[in-house]
Amino acid sequence: MGFPQIQFLNLLAILIIIASSPSSLSATPPNFPIAKPKCTDRCGNLSIPYPFGTTPECYHNYSFFVTCNQTFNPPKPFLWNSSLEITDISRDGQLRILQFIAHDCYSRNGTRVSSNRPWLYFPSSLTVNSTANKFTIIGCDTYGFIYGRRLNRNYSTGCTARCEAKDDLIEGSCTGLGCCQASIPKQVWRMELSLGSYRNYSDVWSFDNCSHAFLVEESAFRFSSENLTNLGNVEKLPMVVDWAIGNGTCEEAKRNASSYACKSVNSKCYKPDNGYGYRCSCLAGYQGNPYLIDGCQDINECEDPHLNICEKRCVNTIGSFHCVCPKGYHGDGEKDGRGCIRGQSLALKFAAGISSGIIVLLLIAAWLRVELKRRRKIKTRQKFFLQNGGVLLQEKITKRAKSSYAATTIFSELQLQKATNNFHKDMIIGQGGFGTVYKGFLSDNRIVAIKKSKKVNTDQVEQFINEVIILSQINHRNIVKLLGCCLETKVPLLVYEFISNGTLFEHIHDETKAHFLSWEMRLKIAAETANVLAYLHSAASTPIIHRDVKSANILLDDNLIAKVSDFGDSRLVPLDQTQLSTMVHGTSGYLDPEYMQTNKLTAKSDVYSFGVVLVELLTGKTALSFARPEEDRNLANLFLSVMKQERLFEILEDNVVKEGNNEQLMKVAMVAKSCLYVKGDDRPSMKEVAMELEGLILGEKHTWIQTGHSGEDKQSMLEAGFSGSINVGEGNSASIGFDSVEDHIMLPEDRGR
Ligand SMILES: *[C@@H]1O[C@H](CO)[C@@H](O)[C@H](O)[C@H]1NC(C)=O
Ligand SMILES: *[C@@H]1O[C@H](CO)[C@@H](O)[C@H](O)[C@H]1NC(C)=O
Ligand SMILES: *[C@@H]1O[C@H](CO)[C@@H](O)[C@H](O)[C@H]1NC(C)=O
Ligand SMILES: *[C@@H]1O[C@H](CO)[C@@H](O)[C@H](O)[C@H]1NC(C)=O
Ligand SMILES: *[C@@H]1O[C@H](CO)[C@@H](O)[C@H](O)[C@H]1NC(C)=O
Ligand SMILES: *[C@@H]1O[C@H](CO)[C@@H](O)[C@H](O)[C@H]1NC(C)=O
Ligand SMILES: *[C@@H]1O[C@H](CO)[C@@H](O)[C@H](O)[C@H]1NC(C)=O
Ligand SMILES: *[C@@H]1O[C@H](CO)[C@@H](O)[C@H](O)[C@H]1NC(C)=O
Ligand SMILES: *[C@@H]1O[C@H](CO)[C@@H](O)[C@H](O)[C@H]1NC(C)=O
Ligand SMILES: *[C@@H]1O[C@H](CO)[C@@H](O)[C@H](O)[C@H]1NC(C)=O
Ligand SMILES: *[C@@H]1O[C@H](CO)[C@@H](O)[C@H](O)[C@H]1NC(C)=O
Ligand SMILES: *[C@@H]1O[C@H](CO)[C@@H](O)[C@H](O)[C@H]1NC(C)=O
Repeated sequence: MGFPQIQFLNLLAILIIIASSPSSLSATPPNFPIAKPKCTDRCGNLSIPYPFGTTPECYHNYSFFVTCNQTFNPPKPFLWNSSLEITDISRDGQLRILQFIAHDCYSRNGTRVSSNRPWLYFPSSLTVNSTANKFTIIGCDTYGFIYGRRLNRNYSTGCTARCEAKDDLIEGSCTGLGCCQASIPKQVWRMELSLGSYRNYSDVWSFDNCSHAFLVEESAFRFSSENLTNLGNVEKLPMVVDWAIGNGTCEEAKRNASSYACKSVNSKCYKPDNGYGYRCSCLAGYQGNPYLIDGCQDINECEDPHLNICEKRCVNTIGSFHCVCPKGYHGDGEKDGRGCIRGQSLALKFAAGISSGIIVLLLIAAWLRVELKRRRKIKTRQKFFLQNGGVLLQEKITKRAKSSYAATTIFSELQLQKATNNFHKDMIIGQGGFGTVYKGFLSDNRIVAIKKSKKVNTDQVEQFINEVIILSQINHRNIVKLLGCCLETKVPLLVYEFISNGTLFEHIHDETKAHFLSWEMRLKIAAETANVLAYLHSAASTPIIHRDVKSANILLDDNLIAKVSDFGDSRLVPLDQTQLSTMVHGTSGYLDPEYMQTNKLTAKSDVYSFGVVLVELLTGKTALSFARPEEDRNLANLFLSVMKQERLFEILEDNVVKEGNNEQLMKVAMVAKSCLYVKGDDRPSMKEVAMELEGLILGEKHTWIQTGHSGEDKQSMLEAGFSGSINVGEGNSASIGFDSVEDHIMLPEDRGR
């Protein structure tokens, strides 16, 4: 086993790097760069730190674009291409700009003579600072509003300022008499100011003929009675804007190293007060611009007496400092330098020698313990790998690798632990009888769903492997793709592609989502599901029966394309057999009544379950509900009795009735009804169902019998989808263990073709 040796070499390399790094970095730079190399870091007397910049190469994103207008002397900086002048940029995430004031003025006879409604619209990354700014109104017959957007919704607030005579006003107090103020919430990124008057200034015109409104940095404005008149000449006032990078969290940002903004090694990411986006800061002991590579540089604490507390001699180190005792003193090198004792006793030296020796021994012992534990763990992993059929799988994969494009990856336990943050409970996206599903982020940025199944017992291993291989090779756009598995754990882990938009069950039964699931979409999803089940049933080599078709096992991606998932209960049916004896598996409400009685599994059981899903889509009702009267608990029964009484349109979902045309709805209901026939033989095949549904989408007339001409291209499509893939067992007849009767199920020798 070469592994520990490699580890040791790594450790050595790290030690060497650690040992050598201080000398290469220790020189303190004369000044810290704040902008990218070759970028202007100044406009007039405003300094412009990156992520802000004056050209596309120099700023992080258009939100941080600063225009420096050289026609002014000194030059004036503006935000983007706007007329909002910037007066300050702080690296802690604030920005001070001059923002326009709203005015509203009246003439003696009560007509409005001038008025404006300034507005401001921030791109992502910038928001109005909620603690430093106040919405302020000045006037004696005035109300005003600030309208805006917050997150993705409208937001507004306002206040009223009145007075009857000039001596109502109170200097420095903004409490409604001639001046009022309102706080604004966090995360506002768009605002518009508006003003109005109650009595057209007719009562107060003699001393006040205008009102004013503005968002202002609270500390920069103190109300004075003169402001009733002198504000007319003021165009802009300062306000504080928060800036941050992006709109995601630190964790989200760290996932993409190339766009992660905290570029400096000695920087950290933190969440701003308003919880929007992220910001970077230098670690303690460093200062500079964390957004630049090498931006955070060591502080020489020893040069600044405020930063160190050494009594005697101070030595700067990277990121910190320590105090040492001068020559002839000894002590433990504490930060405050106290405890430096004159002279060195021999006894002390001796004691120090012995104690450091003991420490070294203890360290070695601890390392040995950890190493032994690690080896033991590797052994267990290998044991599980073998027990879970790893060798068999590897053999099959290498055999197949030459002939097939589809790759089953065997993931290591470590890889998947990393991807799921050690199977953290926050990463759980699904739980049920089958086990637990986690969301995971692989190191190559792929997002996956990882299924931790319930315990598989040893004689089912081979069957498990066969399923893994077969599923990993099915390459159909309507089936959730299996990317690989991990066999090093007690229970095998399966790794699937991650489907983002939840299950069909949620989309049907969640009220808001159901509202957006149009009839057209429902029919499309039904047709896609039918089509993929038909594909599985009539697949060229080994037909597959899903066994657990239900809306919760149909996932939807962002474009609402159906992806059938959860083949945990699925079974392969050798070509020479049309039925299997198994223990009854499935979900109540969807279970084929015939299968329940006979234990004989055929493809028609999937047809029945699909029929239930179809009824779910039509009615928006759950397959089983104890809220319904006893005879109607089972949706299939309810549906059949309603069909019998020709009251179909009473139980259809409201939207479905609105959007679908009656003839088409009736036909789909007939399809559902035929799927729900008690005798499996009476039910249509999945292929017939798929063709009927597709026909209905295309508006064609189809009947069950008339499958001839249009069946041809369907057949070729099915075969094309499956070509060049499955050939399990190659020559040696591999038996796959099924629930009860194993001798039933021998894979025929030439499944290939
Ligand atoms: C900016 O520059 C002007 C003139 O050069 C100077 O009067 C003013 O004090 C400076 N402001 C700051 C904040 O440095
Ligand atoms: C600079 O400011 C002047 C005066 O406001 C304006 O006319 C000009 O267009 C500005 N230049 C730029 C590049 O924005
Ligand atoms: C600023 O640029 C944006 C597009 O980048 C444009 O929509 C807008 O009209 C420009 N504003 C001015 C004042 O030029
Ligand atoms: C409002 O009053 C000020 C002085 O009190 C005067 O200069 C201004 O012209 C008046 N505005 C209007 C619209 O009457
Ligand atoms: C009110 O005054 C404005 C200007 O001061 C004038 O244009 C307008 O005709 C007047 N309206 C009435 C009804 O007197
Ligand atoms: C939000 O505000 C905008 C303009 O301010 C308006 O057009 C829109 O109708 C408002 N939306 C709602 C839901 O009130
Ligand atoms: C204010 O002026 C508007 C038109 O300018 C008029 O319709 C309204 O009656 C006036 N209100 C009062 C209280 O004078
Ligand atoms: C309000 O009035 C006072 C007193 O005249 C003045 O110093 C101050 O600048 C005014 N405020 C604004 C925002 O103009
Ligand atoms: C700026 O960044 C935000 C979020 O990070 C993004 O939505 C926007 O598209 C970016 N703008 C440009 C011009 O790249
Ligand atoms: C971040 O911005 C992108 C595009 O601008 C948007 O699609 C996404 O929903 C935003 N995320 C959050 C959490 O606001
Ligand atoms: C990572 O960020 C870069 C640059 O913004 C972008 O081109 C790339 O698509 C991102 N990758 C992922 C996986 O989001
Ligand atoms: C608003 O700005 C102040 C500094 O002026 C800052 O301390 C505070 O965190 C900011 N508020 C928010 C919500 O970001």
